[in-house]
Amino acid sequence: MGREQVIRDASWIEREYGEDKWPAVLDRINSRIAAGERSLSRVISLVTRWELENPGLRAVTSVALGERIRLPASLAWHGLYALVSEAVIAASRNDTQAIIDLGCGWGRSLFEVWLRGGPREATYHALEFTRAGRDCVQVLAALEPGMRARTARFDFRAPDFASLDKPIRHAVVFTVSSLHQVPLVNLDAYRRLFTVADSIDCLHFEQFGWQMNAAGAVSADRDYALRNDYNRNLWHVLSELSTNHEIEIVDVLADLVGPQENYPMSLVHWRRS
Ligand SMILES: C[S@@+](CC[C@H](N)C(=O)[O-])C[C@H]1O[C@@H](n2cnc3c(N)ncnc32)[C@H](O)[C@@H]1O
Repeated sequence: MGREQVIRDASWIEREYGEDKWPAVLDRINSRIAAGERSLSRVISLVTRWELENPGLRAVTSVALGERIRLPASLAWHGLYALVSEAVIAASRNDTQAIIDLGCGWGRSLFEVWLRGGPREATYHALEFTRAGRDCVQVLAALEPGMRARTARFDFRAPDFASLDKPIRHAVVFTVSSLHQVPLVNLDAYRRLFTVADSIDCLHFEQFGWQMNAAGAVSADRDYALRNDYNRNLWHVLSELSTNHEIEIVDVLADLVGPQENYPMSLVHWRRS
């Protein structure tokens, strides 16, 4: 029997995340709260450990800075989320009014940014395609009244930022393993990102190192992306915008981090004022 042909369209996303993964996470969140948990930090930690299947001390081959490296699974996975939130916080400024997670899933990374000391006065926007993901965010946000959190439906294919209270002076926008779910990013749709704030720092943690043809990129990653209908043009889109001086590339770190050997995440950080 041949493999199922992956066509990563809206119904695929709805099935994988809207019906399968995020409802299970929502059940887990609700069961922790029903068991008496009231701390956002504790619920996030408990759910993350469960979702990652207790990574613990077992050795895994991971990727860091383009190198294959053996790490305890716990370090590889928890280190990844710590790295993401620290980078988002580092991109924040005194006048940052919004932290925006696009394709936020159940909100783990956005809440991590807050819990690790992200800007207190900013509004945290959890934008996500699936209802189940947004439901998780709402239940978690209710545990943390001091955090100004909002959630709204969002589709990379037709970005709509009407849910944001504008004007916003500076926003940090980020994606973690979400934009790579869009097989081909449309350049004009992507440009709508520019409307979120007067000044933007945007960080993409996505599996697109193979597109950069950078040292360390392997054809296995490319094959994996094509087989699973993951994104194949994000780097091209960003390069074109940079060449047109529509964005300023601040940092490119190909194959920066990957808790698993294949298909690691790269970081591109761009800025627009
Ligand atoms: C691998 S999960 C990552 C979730 C989250 N960023 C994290 O790191 O935990 C991919 C997420 O992208 C979302 N997604 C996929 N296609 C999308 C689209 N067209 N617009 C917005 N979100 C999308 C999915 O619903 C899912 O929540």
